[in-house]
Amino acid sequence: MRIDPLTCAIGAELLDVNLADAVTDDGLFEEIYAALLKHRVLFLRDQTLDKLSRQQHMAFAQRLGELEDHPLIPSHPEAPGLVQIYKSPDTPRERYENAWHCDGTFRGKPPMACVLRCIECPPTGGDTMWANMVLAYEKLPAAIKSQIDGLIANHSFNASFAAAFPAEKRLALKARYPDAEHPVVRTHPDTGEKVLFVNAFATHFVNYHTSEHVRYGQDYNQVGADLLKYLISQAYNPEYQVRWRWTPYSVAIWDNRSTNHYAVMDYPPSFRKMERAAIVGAKPY
Ligand code: SIN
Repeated sequence: MRIDPLTCAIGAELLDVNLADAVTDDGLFEEIYAALLKHRVLFLRDQTLDKLSRQQHMAFAQRLGELEDHPLIPSHPEAPGLVQIYKSPDTPRERYENAWHCDGTFRGKPPMACVLRCIECPPTGGDTMWANMVLAYEKLPAAIKSQIDGLIANHSFNASFAAAFPAEKRLALKARYPDAEHPVVRTHPDTGEKVLFVNAFATHFVNYHTSEHVRYGQDYNQVGADLLKYLISQAYNPEYQVRWRWTPYSVAIWDNRSTNHYAVMDYPPSFRKMERAAIVGAKPY
């Protein structure tokens, strides 16, 4: 296997390798996992269904842990661990991955990684971008780092894919998936790195309202919300990003603990069909 880094910050392409081999080859699997920790998102091309069946796609992801479903998006009928992120020209409202986000942080235990395969993509457009949130933390000004030390953020899908729902549907969903609270700076459980852990699902800080930070009442919205917006916007820096141009049957594997991503929605009226395995993670600390 060859590993070809794609930027100075994040992302590498794996060459001369079939992901299916890593289902049974422990050495190859360990090599891929080490590359994932180093590069945070890995890409492979030409992982066609004859080389990597849906069952093998799931089996590779299951080497990392248990697979999770999505609150709304159905899984493939023959491969229940693969969520079908299928976009068609008829579903223009079902496009909400074009915000910088980290999958599933509205859950108490967000996915630790995801394995996404493209089944069909537009001839041009529909790229996905990832940002290195370890670098985003590292490059923050020291004064901001000390300001956010110990902060906790609330995460919810209310401002994201549930925002357009009628209230009844939104409340029913929220009863099944209550908001989650996560540290604004988490520690990567494998590498010990500090990660800036906020994204489009983060709605507000839950412990910002102290006399050191705000004049009670008066400043909360302005100061806390501005700070959160500033932190979320760190992922927008091109210096922290990689952008992947999909071809049918290419695969992306990302460390969902240390990256945020953005699916570019520039392709309507084309179809775009992706299948994603998300692996249940641990509670962030
Ligand atoms: C996702 O947000 O998990 C999917 C990204 C994509 O469809 O490119």
